[in-house]
Amino acid sequence: MPKVLILGGTAEAAALAARLVATGEVAVVTSLAGRTAHPVLPPGEVRIGGFGGAEGLAAYIREQGISRVIDATHPFARRISENAIRATAETGVPLEHLVRPGWEPVRGDRWREVGSLEEAAQALPAGATVFLALGRQYLDTFLPRTDCRFVIRMVDAPAEPLPFSNHTLILGKPSADPADEAALFASHGITHLVCRNSGGASGYGKIAAAREMGLPVVMVGR
Ligand SMILES: NC(=O)c1ccc[n+]([C@@H]2O[C@H](COP(=O)([O-])OP(=O)(O)OC[C@H]3O[C@@H](n4cnc5c(N)ncnc54)[C@H](OP(=O)(O)O)[C@@H]3O)[C@@H](O)[C@H]2O)c1
Repeated sequence: MPKVLILGGTAEAAALAARLVATGEVAVVTSLAGRTAHPVLPPGEVRIGGFGGAEGLAAYIREQGISRVIDATHPFARRISENAIRATAETGVPLEHLVRPGWEPVRGDRWREVGSLEEAAQALPAGATVFLALGRQYLDTFLPRTDCRFVIRMVDAPAEPLPFSNHTLILGKPSADPADEAALFASHGITHLVCRNSGGASGYGKIAAAREMGLPVVMVGR
């Protein structure tokens, strides 16, 4: 059977793996970076951890006899996507990219669209209570805003305490249900949401909740 490598880590990648496995016509391997301690494993084979750059990915493609690569990673995960382009060019294996469209503002949304995390940090007014819907690697840009309070949600507890002077850490996953996200925002007195325009249904609950509550959203573009 032809062997498909899905570069995963998203709900869409898991759904794609399930669809392809169900056809019974291809062997499916999903690759995860290993960022979360207890990932939901998609159907088919799963491998976890980096490949060692584009060269490592090319070697894996050769060794495993991969005949097709599908990049279904998060739209902000740029390095792995660049590595996939290089590795498939080097090995001559076809590459497909499952592109997740960004969210578009609708009536009632109060978005301020910015081009970088730095701009997002500057856009916050003093005294704001900010829900930072960002991964650990994106938080440090907000450290100088000691005049704001930050509420941060993470799937796994951070290895080191977060270096914010005034923050609350919530452990858990985003909910696709706006009612859950609205209840969370209300219980923490959130005045602003900061997030990236990731697109997709699983992260949209917070956007719809902000709209329903009339909260301003600082939206970092792609
Ligand atoms: N960025 C986000 O906000 C975000 C949000 C939700 C989910 N994710 C998922 O989390 C993963 C990591 O995101 P990131 O932003 O850290 O990526 P990144 O900056 O593009 O990748 C950094 C390194 O992590 C490894 N890696 C990334 N995705 C991998 C995968 N699917 N399988 C094996 N190795 C992978 C690669 O290491 P080597 O060079 O050693 O191969 C890559 O060079 C991605 O798979 C992405 O789909 C990311």
